[in-house]
Amino acid sequence: MDSCKVLVTHELIESGLDPLEGRCELVRAQGMSSAEVRARIEGFWGLVPLLTVKLDEALLDAAKGLKIIANVAVGYDNIDIAAATARGIWVTNTPGVLTEATADFTWALMLGLVRRIVEGQRMMLAGAYHGWEHTMLLGADFAGKVLGVVGLGQIGRAVARRAAGFGMQVLFYDPAEPAAMVDLGLLKAQQVPLDELLGAADIVSLHTPLTPQTRHLIDARRLALMRPSAYLVNTSRGPVVDERALVEHLLQRRIAGAALDVYEEEPALAPGLAGLDNVLLQPHLGSATRETRLLMAHTAANNVLAVLEGRRPPNAVNDPLA
Ligand code: DGY
Repeated sequence: MDSCKVLVTHELIESGLDPLEGRCELVRAQGMSSAEVRARIEGFWGLVPLLTVKLDEALLDAAKGLKIIANVAVGYDNIDIAAATARGIWVTNTPGVLTEATADFTWALMLGLVRRIVEGQRMMLAGAYHGWEHTMLLGADFAGKVLGVVGLGQIGRAVARRAAGFGMQVLFYDPAEPAAMVDLGLLKAQQVPLDELLGAADIVSLHTPLTPQTRHLIDARRLALMRPSAYLVNTSRGPVVDERALVEHLLQRRIAGAALDVYEEEPALAPGLAGLDNVLLQPHLGSATRETRLLMAHTAANNVLAVLEGRRPPNAVNDPLA
């Protein structure tokens, strides 16, 4: 068995790494930049980073002796997987455990955006509510509308399933899903080409991983396919949307609004985005519940343990042994 010295780059939820206590020497940082990780990584056997740490070739070159990167996230676009594999390093993620929390939050964004919850709160706090009015802060109905889900993975499905409770129809687009119709229990989701989905949906919700194929998947041309009454919600990864083109569309009211939990240059916002009144912006909170964050940390810890014990880590996204 290897000796297990693990660098934990950020503070994690209390007891999150309990499965590793007594098994590994944990070096816990309070929050490291990628440059700091690069300067410190040599000699560590394991690394438990957040998605904010960019693990590129140069950093992995410095990671002499590293055997596992247990990313505390389902997305792993922060890691150069080919470079890790070539250096014999396992990379793992945390799928499944954050599905429901992220789907809940996506619906919170949809509801908040379409029913103008933040504007209502702002009005109340400003003392600007002077009594019930027939035409004040009007939103839109959900029942009878079309939800367009881009990416029907675990989170996309969980978001789509919830649409049954709102009496919505679901269209989806997912090149990895061969079925034309997917049965989600209380409703069936119909697959259509992406351009068709964008033209037909009242709300478009993005649930695709960030890959070279999905970078700017929603660009100016595709935004122009959406209806002026339609809303865009992104809880996946910021660069899936061309954020500058989105700002332009929102400014010109070519779409009704957008709710974003993720950003192209996170944590920075595209120029103009923060000044718009038809956006709901959140600081990447999709999986931010106590229960889910604990499970994410445990999942990362269990992947580290598996490698320590000579097993294949349950959530490997690469195979450095192949
Ligand atoms: C992830 O896991 O990839 C999310 O973006 C954070 O929970």
